[in-house]
Amino acid sequence: MKILVTGGAGFIGSHTVVELHNAGFEPVIIDNFNNSKITALDGLRAIIGHDVRCYQADCNDVAALEGIFKTENIEGVIHFAAHKAVGESVAQPLSYYYNNLNSTVLLLELMEKYGIENFVFSSSCTVYGEPDALPVTEATPRKAATSPYGNTKQICEDIIRDHVRATPSLKAIALRYFNPIGAHQSAQIGELPLGVPSNLVPFITQTAAGWREKLTIFGNDYNTPDGTNVRDYIHVVDLAKAHVQALRLLQKQTTGQYYDVFNVGTGRGNTVLEVVKAFEKVSGQPLNYEIGARRSGDVEQIFASADKVNNIMEWTAQKTLEESLADAWRWQLTLKK
Ligand code: UD1
Repeated sequence: MKILVTGGAGFIGSHTVVELHNAGFEPVIIDNFNNSKITALDGLRAIIGHDVRCYQADCNDVAALEGIFKTENIEGVIHFAAHKAVGESVAQPLSYYYNNLNSTVLLLELMEKYGIENFVFSSSCTVYGEPDALPVTEATPRKAATSPYGNTKQICEDIIRDHVRATPSLKAIALRYFNPIGAHQSAQIGELPLGVPSNLVPFITQTAAGWREKLTIFGNDYNTPDGTNVRDYIHVVDLAKAHVQALRLLQKQTTGQYYDVFNVGTGRGNTVLEVVKAFEKVSGQPLNYEIGARRSGDVEQIFASADKVNNIMEWTAQKTLEESLADAWRWQLTLKK
């Protein structure tokens, strides 16, 4: 079964391509390489043993997209490709709304035109905003988004839900990712942030590698066990496997008009300081860090209830925080500045 993976050369996309292949699906990538590197395809080849078909094109390029649907016998779509930097979305909202919403609408239109029934969407725990109770379940009401980026995830979820209601054959799942970290254990693929990373783990590994002078921890005066923010860090390979399970769940649906959302997290929360300490343990070296001011827009703490995804999608995170950080570090050591 051929699956179109938009953004398939990116961090989560590339790991999902591997797991799709391992599970017997045939992934086909479309990526514009705006926020990924073509070398990811070399890593995929090294892991899989052959080239993965890849179209270099933008998901807002309707002619390019339609060309793929005409040429390939696509039976499902996993839509990763999106802008994803919270701060940038505040500075350039139109770019975020145009890119993230338009590509989703175009894909859904073409799927309808070509009779493709299975859709998996990359959503985010950001849709919950600052939760009133923890862990967050899928029944936890979404709060007003705190950034245009977060708003695009909420709006895309709504677009998909509404379109499913109106389309008898369509089946769709939105996966709400918590904090993906780590890399493939082969260290052939991993996260490749362009410029100064805004996410915690690449900043930690780049600091340990000497690329950055020190990590600034954004605040230690939160109401958490050690004062630093709590997040649910999930190994990217576990997250990739959740996409395979999502496709299997879609395949099991005998009728269309199926739409559901799932948290994809470990169900565990860790503070920033716990991540730093775990990294020091697995890398065997101290990390240079300081405590700085809070980062605007950060939620104090959030972690998933994974009950629904465990029970209905038959998926559970397998890897520990230490394993995730060890893999991220091994990957970092392969990179050249
Ligand atoms: C947020 C969103 C997530 C989104 C992601 C995109 C929430 C809860 N999560 O993740 O949905 O997909 O942005 O990038 O809104 N930190 C430091 N120093 C650093 C970097 C980070 O202390 O240099 C801290 C942050 O304050 C935070 C934690 O590390 O507490 C994780 O930060 P980050 O990796 O940026 O992810 P989120 O902000 O949780």
